[in-house]
Amino acid sequence: MRTRVAVIGGGPAGLLLGQLLHLDGIETVVIERRSREHVMGRIRAGVIETGTAELLRRAGVGARMDAEGLAHDGALFVGPSAELRVDFRDLVGRGVLVYGQTELTRDLYAARDAAGGVVIDRAEVTAIEGLDGPRPEIVYRRDGREGRIACDYVAGCDGHHGVSRRAIPAHALREHARALPFGWLGVLSRTRPTHPELIYARHPRGFALCSMRSAEVSRHYVQVPLSERVEDWSDARFWDELRARLPSWAAEATTPGPTIEKSIAPVRAFVAEPMRWGRLFLAGDAAHIVPPTGAKGLNLAAQDVGDLHAALRAAILEGDEAALDAYGPRALARVWRAVRFSWRLTRMLHVWPGADPFEERLQDAELAHLAASRRARAELAEAYVGLAFAPPE
Ligand code: FAD
Ligand code: DHB
Repeated sequence: MRTRVAVIGGGPAGLLLGQLLHLDGIETVVIERRSREHVMGRIRAGVIETGTAELLRRAGVGARMDAEGLAHDGALFVGPSAELRVDFRDLVGRGVLVYGQTELTRDLYAARDAAGGVVIDRAEVTAIEGLDGPRPEIVYRRDGREGRIACDYVAGCDGHHGVSRRAIPAHALREHARALPFGWLGVLSRTRPTHPELIYARHPRGFALCSMRSAEVSRHYVQVPLSERVEDWSDARFWDELRARLPSWAAEATTPGPTIEKSIAPVRAFVAEPMRWGRLFLAGDAAHIVPPTGAKGLNLAAQDVGDLHAALRAAILEGDEAALDAYGPRALARVWRAVRFSWRLTRMLHVWPGADPFEERLQDAELAHLAASRRARAELAEAYVGLAFAPPE
């Protein structure tokens, strides 16, 4: 088989890139290791920045998001001694949309099917050959048989555990990683959201987050040590722990409901440099992971794809390769700013390893500063709704 752009990974990054290239008449093949049902069943991100939403509309997959997504103009930040609302719209003129990654992935698969695009699912890419020459080849296994796809460019959209990043020679690859000894235990449940807006809560027992997917479906998280196993968290234990970490008004407004999904996700930061090697371009989680606090992961993946799409289009349709050179450095600058934001928010709100009363007072002071300073809230709001849209200074 031969195609213009071989896209490894059928998660949001790979599917969105495939769709954008298809609209330009550029042929792609998406190769996905898992079944389509598995990919669509994964419960992950929920907050969509304005810039991501615009890109999705441009890709022709914004209709359901616009009809069913919940517009949020602010969020609450609470702690033992402070409670405040950050009004995104008032501070920076934009808000965010709450729309689940599951729904987005469903919309992207539907668009790809409607366009007659090829997704080879249950096919694991095992090697990428010839990346330093003009005709790379993807090698994959499906039903025990080997297949090959020759292409002009390879998009590595295969997430943190994919093969693409490992195709970059060790001497050329730098990986920056910070693992934390805690994760987020998340429960998706059929119940009314705790509050119309998200609540980020700092508490001596650990961080808690009240989010949602719709008026009837909630997503709640609590910080847990990484040593915890999801099997040890009965529904009752989860709801008790969540409520213990919320202000009393929010605990009272939280009604347990039937669990749809429960899982633990690690909290960590990871950035791989470079994001380009020869004809391979990494995008999304394949290149970087940010701590989940602030919901940047999916948005960064979409922004990578927006840039990579523009660069590939210029190279393929106009023969202009300059944008391909600029892709990695531009994306990495954005990624590091998002790491900075997510790391700071994580640090402000979680019980940190080795924390002492000094650290706790500093965290209190951070929240008190946010409550007192419009400028501090504006800085948070600017990053929360999407740094890509901040005008250059
Ligand atoms: P992925 O969604 O990981 O997609 C990569 C795809 O590549 C997968 O479908 C995988 O099966 C496939 N693949 C891997 N290896 C191969 C191979 N060898 N051959 C073929 N296919 C392959 N972000 C937020 O903003 N908010 C959140 O609340 C949030 N929660 C998260 C919870 C969890 C458990 C995880 C893991 C992530 C979470 N994220 C969250 C991050 C967000 O979901 C990711 O940033 C986003 O999924 C990135 O999309 P992606 O397409 O780059 O990668
Ligand atoms: C969600 C996840 C986040 O990481 C976040 O900061 C806000 C919301 C969510 O899954 O709804």
